[in-house]
Amino acid sequence: MNYELAGAKVRPKVTVVGGAGNVGATVGQYLVAKELADVVLMDILDGVQQGKGLDLLEAGPILGTDSRIFGTREYKDTSGSHIVVITAGIARKPGMSRDDLLNTNAKIVGNVTEQVVAHSPGCILLVVSNPLDAMTQLAFQRSGFPRERVIGMAGVLDSSRLRAFIAQELQVSVENVNAFVLGGHGDTMVPLPRFSTVAGIPITELLPAERVEALVKRTAQGGGEIVALLGTGSAYYAPAASVMEMVEAILKDKKKILPCCVYLKGEYGIQGLCVGVPVKLGASGVEQIIEVKLTPSEDAALKRSAAAVKELIDILRL
Ligand SMILES: NC(=O)c1ccc[n+]([C@@H]2O[C@H](COP(=O)([O-])OP(=O)(O)OC[C@H]3O[C@@H](n4cnc5c(N)ncnc54)[C@H](O)[C@@H]3O)[C@@H](O)[C@H]2O)c1
Repeated sequence: MNYELAGAKVRPKVTVVGGAGNVGATVGQYLVAKELADVVLMDILDGVQQGKGLDLLEAGPILGTDSRIFGTREYKDTSGSHIVVITAGIARKPGMSRDDLLNTNAKIVGNVTEQVVAHSPGCILLVVSNPLDAMTQLAFQRSGFPRERVIGMAGVLDSSRLRAFIAQELQVSVENVNAFVLGGHGDTMVPLPRFSTVAGIPITELLPAERVEALVKRTAQGGGEIVALLGTGSAYYAPAASVMEMVEAILKDKKKILPCCVYLKGEYGIQGLCVGVPVKLGASGVEQIIEVKLTPSEDAALKRSAAAVKELIDILRL
């Protein structure tokens, strides 16, 4: 998994902007623990990201990882990154929806994208900041990158939550469970139970319809459940693990099919909007958008989800 940079063999470099924060620092932790890349934790704070970076570096000998990690507030240190993860922004507090973050995070993500692109013009952007679909579209338009290199993380998290609940309900290994979700992040996500399986068997054959509905509802509200429990801040372990899975798919060119937020040009009948769909993730980013035939009710739910994203895009005048 070595990358050639200016003739020298180096490990891949991943920058996390917002790296002092909960999701950002945990992404750093997972990437280093799996020895996937050298990691730069970039943040506007001064001290926290350097402290967390050093702390994680000092865990390396015990974890047996030679990945390097450090914190910085200088964009020059992020130059030449292969992947840049954007977690910068504010997170939800109890009682807030993701959409309440729109204007604040749009300013931050817009500015961060410009800086990132100036220092790593060839990178793949993974957007995490909320509201996710709108922030992905903002980063896509502001970066000028092809759509293959601007990818939003939401579906991997939503499907991981659903997988965890299905495994718990049926008392089976999480490794046997696959879940299929489309659409925007969270409340308007569109789960497809007929494509969600346990060892290849659709969950619709293993659970009564009302239990499937209950698990799906809990998943759609999964972020809010954690916000309410934490009291301050929002979920970060599962979100960071989701980012790690996407980074691994890209750096190892795994061609893994994962639900990701990408700019659609007519796929699923959606034009000019960033929405979650199954994609093939590999070394070049999004290598294929997988289209499946939807039932009329699934299609209507996806269109509602896309309309919710469009409302935010219109507010931002993108
Ligand atoms: N897509 C998802 O599924 C998902 C899941 C969890 C969290 N999120 C979102 O991710 C974001 C981060 O969440 P968190 O819990 O890590 O929040 P956090 O408050 O712990 O961290 C955010 C970090 O961003 C930094 N920051 C702010 N402005 C910046 C700028 N201009 N440049 C660089 N850094 C800047 C802050 O200093 C802070 O360290 C939030 O918007 C949250 O809603 C998304």
